[in-house]
Amino acid sequence: MLTLTTTHQTTHACRQSPRPLGLVPTMGALHEGHLALVRRARRENAALAVSIFVNPAQFGPQEDLAQYPRDLERDLDLLRAEGVDLVFVPAPEEVYPPGFDTWVEPGELATRLEGAVRPGHFRGVATVVAKLFNIISPDRAYFGQKDGQQVAVIRRLTADLNLGPEVVVAPTVRDADGLALSSRNAYLTAAQRAAAPVIYRALRRAEELRRAGVQDAGQLRQAARALLEGEPLIEAIDYVSVADTDTLEELDDVPGRAMVSVAARIGRVRLIDNVMLE
Ligand code: PAF
Repeated sequence: MLTLTTTHQTTHACRQSPRPLGLVPTMGALHEGHLALVRRARRENAALAVSIFVNPAQFGPQEDLAQYPRDLERDLDLLRAEGVDLVFVPAPEEVYPPGFDTWVEPGELATRLEGAVRPGHFRGVATVVAKLFNIISPDRAYFGQKDGQQVAVIRRLTADLNLGPEVVVAPTVRDADGLALSSRNAYLTAAQRAAAPVIYRALRRAEELRRAGVQDAGQLRQAARALLEGEPLIEAIDYVSVADTDTLEELDDVPGRAMVSVAARIGRVRLIDNVMLE
């Protein structure tokens, strides 16, 4: 497995790589959710690159950039064991060198939900993803459905700027009690960890109601919110959304597909999750 830190070496190596080339972009602190993406990408491509980069541009000034979990040696061991061919691990100055002054600004889609609570977040995500696609030129890029809005923004970005790779989205990986795997789960205390699956139960509640024939999006939101409000360790609910899967506009009525999503804070840990109504 090649571990490269410069864009120049990485582009050079990827140009010589067998095709199709898959890419799994990550911020490290790898868990089973990442490894599910890596395994799928390994099966579907002749060569596989993974990037590990905690992207400062997608963190707000009050967010957890400095505390974000990092364990490069462990991550590299895991990727080696999965048969990854190349890992790109740039320093921040390699991605944003002095003088860097060009940003990818996603549109309205990125102002909703996470974008409303974390201004600038998707500008950082879109810029780094566009850069990774340009540096690595993958044929396919793999993302997890857990970050549902990120998936919608990256699909839009890839189509609007003709970036090239096929965007492949893999289902959310969950613990047995339903909690979606996330690097941030590591910050939860035992009591908070025990309370956290209420987020998935709230999403499931909306799903069950929809399956029972309820099409009123307000009722679905209200039912999910009621469950969250019943858990004393949930300190804040940023949103409970029932939205169009492409534009993320809130719906009044759900005759067809929709994404139900939640962002809530347990102690200092902010968790997000979603389910698709088909
Ligand atoms: O989902 C993530 O880990 C990050 O947002 C991504 C896509 C690697 C961009 O930094």
